[in-house]
Amino acid sequence: MKQQTIDQAKAVMIKNDRGSYTVPTQGLYPFQWNWDSALSALGFAHFDEARAWTELETLFAHQWTDGMVPHIIFHEMDDGYFPGPEVWATNQTVPTSGITQPPVAGFAALRIFERAKDRKLATDKAHALLPRIHAWHKWFFANRDPQRTGLVAIIHPWESGRDNSVDWDKAFERVPTEGVSPFKRRDTNHANPDHRPTDEQYKRYIWLVQRFRTLGWDNTKLHDASPFQMVDPGFNAILIRACVDLAKLADELGEEEIAAQSRSMASKGIAALESLWSEEHCQYLCFDRAVGALVDSPSIGGILTAFAPIPDSRAQSLVQRIDTISENCSYLVPSHPPQEPQFEPLRYWRGPVWLIVNYMIADGLLIAGETDMAARIKQDCLKLINKSGFAEYYGPMNGEPCGGGSFTWTAAMVIEILEAS
Ligand code: GLC
Repeated sequence: MKQQTIDQAKAVMIKNDRGSYTVPTQGLYPFQWNWDSALSALGFAHFDEARAWTELETLFAHQWTDGMVPHIIFHEMDDGYFPGPEVWATNQTVPTSGITQPPVAGFAALRIFERAKDRKLATDKAHALLPRIHAWHKWFFANRDPQRTGLVAIIHPWESGRDNSVDWDKAFERVPTEGVSPFKRRDTNHANPDHRPTDEQYKRYIWLVQRFRTLGWDNTKLHDASPFQMVDPGFNAILIRACVDLAKLADELGEEEIAAQSRSMASKGIAALESLWSEEHCQYLCFDRAVGALVDSPSIGGILTAFAPIPDSRAQSLVQRIDTISENCSYLVPSHPPQEPQFEPLRYWRGPVWLIVNYMIADGLLIAGETDMAARIKQDCLKLINKSGFAEYYGPMNGEPCGGGSFTWTAAMVIEILEAS
């Protein structure tokens, strides 16, 4: 059974493999996505180490000169996706989008390095990637934390990877819809429109793209010019964890300066994360930097913080929080709690379960010694796979498969969970 599931997961990854990068799924997402690739590399590492390194290398081959790693790389033209390269107009040799995504690559690189059987290959590849990943981390603190608070902001909901989370609703109302050039969505041709973001949200997504484009994608200007500046605890937790992990990798490779700088960014971030803790919700919350207030939306972003080395007492509280949420759903961990009025069980990031987020939460809880909850979350992932296959995401009440099918990172997470157990 276990081997059969691993074989099926491999087949999904191989189907979506384009040689030097993978697409998240055919049709709906026909290009390379940033955090999809980094997490998918973990899956490849179990059956083809060289291919795992290639996935990361390809991603970083398209890093911008300022250090940013874009959220989409448009390797081959495909008009099945909107917004395509002509809308972004970022003027890169191989077209890319102009925003970024959660920086999981530092975490993935260390994990693949630590487990590698081919030590020479791993050392060579990690050596080449190390300064690039570090440049990306430094880019975040230089461009997305201009006041040097220790935490970075995202300036577009797509950067969070949790595109239409309830967390953004209120702040998103400040993003205008006037002046958006007419467009035709393509995502709803591939997936059920009731499971996707609304047209209103799409207009605002595109308004921000147009705004940044008129500023020539100059990252020294975009943060302050954006009406949307959101400090997402989950995103920051990923960045902090990636800095901690990159420091370990740098230690292994004898790169003392990178190790020291990475540790310093991480410890400042961990201390600053405390300002996002909510006693009332027993979890972390987003901070809307444009208005200077916490966002009263207890979504999974504040639970994903378990991925970072937060204090043990916080990890214990998060376990209690997940336990409370579990009283109202069948599968952990819903992206928005069923107890909340905005919860929508099948709409993208407003309720459904995503295996990648589950994997990161479980990983952090395991390190914090919260083994029971970590095991429970992983079990739910496997139950979902057995019931509904390798979907993009799943309904937390009945395990229904949603969004795209044959999804690369879902398959990669299953290989990770099964091979490591
Ligand atoms: C959606 C998800 C995002 C992911 C992308 C490709 O936009 O919200 O997290 O990276 O699809 O799978």
